[in-house]
Amino acid sequence: MKELRFEELSVHYGGRRGGLTAVDGVTLTVPPGQVVGLVGESGSGKSSLAKAAVGLSPVSAGRVLLDGADVRRLPKGHRPLQMVFQDPYSSLDPRMTVGESIAEAMPRDAYRRASERREEVARLLGLVNLDPALGGLRPSRMSGGQRQRVGLARALAGRPDVVIADEVTSALDVSVQGTVLNLVKDLQRRLNLSMLFISHNLAVVRYVSDVVAVMYLGRIVEAGPVAQVLGDPQHPYTRDLLAASPSLHDSDLLADDPAATGDAEPADPHDPPAGCRYHPRCPLGPAVHPGRTICGTTDPGDDADRGVHQVACHFPGAGIDPRQPRA
Ligand SMILES: Nc1ncnc2c1ncn2[C@@H]1O[C@H](COP(=O)(O)OP(=O)(O)OP(=O)(O)O)[C@@H](O)[C@H]1O
Ligand SMILES: [Mg+2]
Repeated sequence: MKELRFEELSVHYGGRRGGLTAVDGVTLTVPPGQVVGLVGESGSGKSSLAKAAVGLSPVSAGRVLLDGADVRRLPKGHRPLQMVFQDPYSSLDPRMTVGESIAEAMPRDAYRRASERREEVARLLGLVNLDPALGGLRPSRMSGGQRQRVGLARALAGRPDVVIADEVTSALDVSVQGTVLNLVKDLQRRLNLSMLFISHNLAVVRYVSDVVAVMYLGRIVEAGPVAQVLGDPQHPYTRDLLAASPSLHDSDLLADDPAATGDAEPADPHDPPAGCRYHPRCPLGPAVHPGRTICGTTDPGDDADRGVHQVACHFPGAGIDPRQPRA
């Protein structure tokens, strides 16, 4: 079990002029053996943050720490941090059998003999509830659900302490999303993995997570224990997400849940608003309450990262009931 920590992390795409800052000074901790669910609308920077941990997005400031050690300075050969993507095709070579793909991700020196490698591949396939005989197939011969299981097996082949799961059930047929989700949750518990679990779907996040972090336009706006953040949301953006998520009230785990707030235009990270980034869309902000000028002028502050329920808002918890339709 290891702690994953993003410290004042920024991700910037493009040149110093122009370009965009997709993640802006985020501090977030995934405690050892826990699942942190990361939610937020499309383009809020979830994948950019996650990919920073595995060296796949351009970090412009801050650090990613694994038990306090900078991940960029980890010894070569061991890969304690593994990422699983929405589309398992992206991590599977179509020309290799899935068994070969899994074997490729195993630590080089741990399984020297071919027979040992075969055994370990079979064990990993069994771990994700696949018949080891399927190891001889190419990915194109498998269903989406089977491929995603192989993606998981491949990630686990590296014997990680931390797994980052980015929308791992989003591309699957609804009929198999539930079983893959249960598998992810079961493996996390059995292997004591620390996990950053990204999803658009609040119901899915509530189901798997211990802690929830809500991201908006490159910042974490609210974070804390899942029951508190989703049961008693303090940030208006979290409330809007919940209100737009009928599945949470219907207890229909896998209903389509785009996590979009109303009809509002998605925010543009090229030119983030001053003050609170949510203020132009906020039902508690100056667009509705003209006296609340502070929202447009003053950054509501720090990331939510002190182990308890934290919120970056000048008027937290004020006002509306998310279940009531707004006029
Ligand atoms: N390689 C890239 N080059 C330039 N801009 C990028 C790149 N990847 C992402 N972006 C931009 O960075 C912002 C954040 O994107 P990111 O993919 O991290 O969001 P996300 O929260 O994962 O969204 P989604 O829910 O759609 O996956 C977006 O404005 C996106 O267009
Ligand atoms: Mg993404």
